[in-house]
Amino acid sequence: MEFKIASVVLLGLSLTACGKAPEQSKTTETQPQSASTASNPAMEVSKDYHSFANPEQIKVTHLDLDLDVDFSQHIISGDATIQFQRIEPNASTLILDTRDLSIERVTAMGQDIPFTLADADPHLGAALSIEVPAKVEAVTVSYHTSPQASGVQWLTPEQTAGKQQPFLFTQAQAIHARSFIPLQDSPQVRVTYQATVRTPAELLAVMSASNDPATERDGEYHFSMPQPIPSYLIALAVGDLAFKPMGERTGVYAEPSMLEAAAKEFEDTEAMLNVTEKKFGKYRWDRYDLLILPPSFPFGGMENPRLSFITPTVIAGDKSLVSLIAHELAHSWSGNTVTNATWRDLWLNEGFTTYLTYRIMEMIYGPEREQMEFVLGQQSLQADIASLPAADQMLAIDLRGRDPDDVFSDIPYEKGALFARELEQKVGRDAFDKFLMGYFEHFAFQSITTDQFIAYLNDTLLKEHAEKLDAQRIQQWIFEPGVPEGAPMAHSDAFTKVDAARDNWLAGELKAEQIDTANWNTHQWLHFLNNMPESLSQAQMTELDNAFALTQVGNNEIAHSWLLMSVNNWYEPAFSRLHDYLVHIGRNKLVKPLYQALSKTEKGKAFAKQAFTEAKPGYHPLTVKANEGYVE
Ligand code: BES
Ligand code: ZN
Repeated sequence: MEFKIASVVLLGLSLTACGKAPEQSKTTETQPQSASTASNPAMEVSKDYHSFANPEQIKVTHLDLDLDVDFSQHIISGDATIQFQRIEPNASTLILDTRDLSIERVTAMGQDIPFTLADADPHLGAALSIEVPAKVEAVTVSYHTSPQASGVQWLTPEQTAGKQQPFLFTQAQAIHARSFIPLQDSPQVRVTYQATVRTPAELLAVMSASNDPATERDGEYHFSMPQPIPSYLIALAVGDLAFKPMGERTGVYAEPSMLEAAAKEFEDTEAMLNVTEKKFGKYRWDRYDLLILPPSFPFGGMENPRLSFITPTVIAGDKSLVSLIAHELAHSWSGNTVTNATWRDLWLNEGFTTYLTYRIMEMIYGPEREQMEFVLGQQSLQADIASLPAADQMLAIDLRGRDPDDVFSDIPYEKGALFARELEQKVGRDAFDKFLMGYFEHFAFQSITTDQFIAYLNDTLLKEHAEKLDAQRIQQWIFEPGVPEGAPMAHSDAFTKVDAARDNWLAGELKAEQIDTANWNTHQWLHFLNNMPESLSQAQMTELDNAFALTQVGNNEIAHSWLLMSVNNWYEPAFSRLHDYLVHIGRNKLVKPLYQALSKTEKGKAFAKQAFTEAKPGYHPLTVKANEGYVE
């Protein structure tokens, strides 16, 4: 059998996945359910191809975790008591997902019961099959994690802001929960959970659950998540954490030295929560807190319910990067309340969340800022469309045989949001807001497929606005590559003068120092730099640097754009900053494009190798995996 290698860019993660090459796009009249060929058999749209679990027979409903966190061995150990429901009354085997877990025993009502751990699949881990006696409704799995667990990062004190205490955090999305808890690791299985977590007494544990800000810091912590959530939203962090309220329902956890700056930067979180709830329906998760992680956190943010995990690299001092908070908050509706049923449906989470992010930014910071962010988002989408194979440009993407992390390009995010924006523009904002509110209500606490979404859309918006919407075009958005012609276009007046300045400077009509940048904001700087020609002369790079001190810029996103230009133009004066940046930041979206650009030349590769070797002990396993190929 022949395999093709597909390499996909995802939020800065590039994973090379092994699998059958997906078919090219079908015409609109072909439903995806029936798309099948000899090499690519029919897909069952509601099947999760990334889990071995059998929820259609026995479905897990609740988890009770009793865990010890051992920083000296880098191991989490304890018991997971798993309650389940028999969907098929005679089913007798419960199948769970695991990855690199050691299973010590499985018991039911105090008695050992038989289990088998299958050989591991490289993407999916190993199925744990448990024979459950009749009438039994819960089993307890005693287990411990591997120090290399893909979903856990253990940090030494030196890798934290305070330098005194170690730190741990988990990152479960997409299929890493199974590396720290044996469970049915599929987004279509929703569980409530309770947990007791024991840590060194001086540290605080927090989870994606109820966190009592006033809890006594004694090394034993209790959590409860009463709403049913998919496994990828289970999260734990342990460290020297302090808490500061930002509003009635919002607050921030961070290492003490970061706390004030974080609370200031994100002080609009409460207002974001209030406006979102007003427009799109009630917030269903009680509190909304942020956890600021050390800089090795591999993502910008992660929407763990009640407690979003956030990179510190967005604390810019001027709120210029807080759309990240709007995004993670918006997931409380799209993602956490209504969840993608399989990783093929991820665009339902990320597309609607990205759409809501724009709406929140507009409500809090005004339309000018929203338009600037929309232009930047659209440019980034165009770049992805130019580089991705057609099959990976569909919203509903075929991921069979591939690592589900592959789905995370700008397609589910920005193309998904653009689709939502088009629906809004066609039916009008009020009607679309009403639709979204109804959608979140209708599917609350359910996990749905793309096809369920389309059926709901047909029954609601399409029926009510038959003259304004076209079912064929909706199929095109979801099942065809690229962006349909006539889609909404972004435009920002604030960028027009930036374009003029760049053009004049490139034409030699204006010196860099003559450009009036005094009132430029972060987005204007990003637009200025991101749209420079691929190649500039040393004199031009030097001129820009002398005029604007770009090598020293504090904002991590602007620094990223400048450093990328510096690599592409081999501008050596920026290289010591580049080294420092690569060693201190583990957020993949920021470092990966730099490694990728460096890897294009021999001398670049040598430089990258040196930085990577120094940085690797501090990188998250995902960041290591996504970048090691560039320095080989
Ligand atoms: N759910 C994602 C993070 C994620 C993506 C985890 C892929 C695992 C795999 C989160 O909500 C997200 O989208 N983060 C973005 C934020 C951005 C688009 C504002 C990030 O981390 O860059
Ligand atoms: Zn997201």
